Amino acid sequence: MNSAAEELNKKLEGSSPLEVLKYFIKEYKGKVAQSTSLGAEDQVLTDMICSIDSKTRVFSLDTGRLFQETYDLIERTNHKYNINIDIYFPDWQKVEEMVREKGINLFYRSIENRKRCCYLRKIEPLNRALKGVEVWISGIRKDQTVSRFSTKLVEWDEAHKMIKVNPLLSWTEKQVWEYIRENNVPYNELHDKGYSSIGCQPCTRALKPGEDFRAGRWWWEEPEGKECGLHDTINK
Ligand code: ADX
Ligand code: SF4
Repeated sequence: MNSAAEELNKKLEGSSPLEVLKYFIKEYKGKVAQSTSLGAEDQVLTDMICSIDSKTRVFSLDTGRLFQETYDLIERTNHKYNINIDIYFPDWQKVEEMVREKGINLFYRSIENRKRCCYLRKIEPLNRALKGVEVWISGIRKDQTVSRFSTKLVEWDEAHKMIKVNPLLSWTEKQVWEYIRENNVPYNELHDKGYSSIGCQPCTRALKPGEDFRAGRWWWEEPEGKECGLHDTINK
């Protein structure tokens, strides 16, 4: 853990997500960006961010394989907050090459294939989206998976050499939904159809009764390895 991140953790301990966001948006004006998947947590953050300064950059990685409901939510969110979420696409040549070599639905066949697809469709665009950013805001919560349990509020992202902030880290799913309902925050219609964590359409399914939060993501893989590489700080 980098010492600046450690100090920020001490300084912001006990602060609410809104206070944490206010701190970074003020102190790092113009150098803060929220990365949103349009998930419930991200929608809470976008709502808070827009209440502080709606000129704060919000970006999303369009893998090309998202749900129609997610695209609809991008439009509804832009409209509600009068913003324009910055959309990043993967490098088409690399995607064409991968598909030519491994097939259009390669991810079901091996973890290696799945990670290659996630790398091309998410990590590379994320690297571009984060150019010039000093603080990136993410919607990770501790209780989403065991692997996220030791995540800190403020982390040093060594891969991108910048601060990463997870303002909702200690919130429960219940708190997220209370905020959404109380503040009339737009959310993905799929949540009403049994989906919890939502990513790409071919790699996300609705939950069966009793399943945990991320069981619907890459459901054919073992739970421990179910990270796509976006969050390189996890378990470091
Ligand atoms: S993932 O790594 O498994 O895909 P998850 O869906 O839990 O991540 O989302 C955690 C955080 O990662 C989100 O709050 C958001 O900050 C970021 N994120 C995930 N997917 C995207 C995306 N497509 N575009 C931008 N940010 C994303
Ligand atoms: Fe590819 Fe699935 Fe990863 Fe999306 S979640 S980038 S479709 S492997």
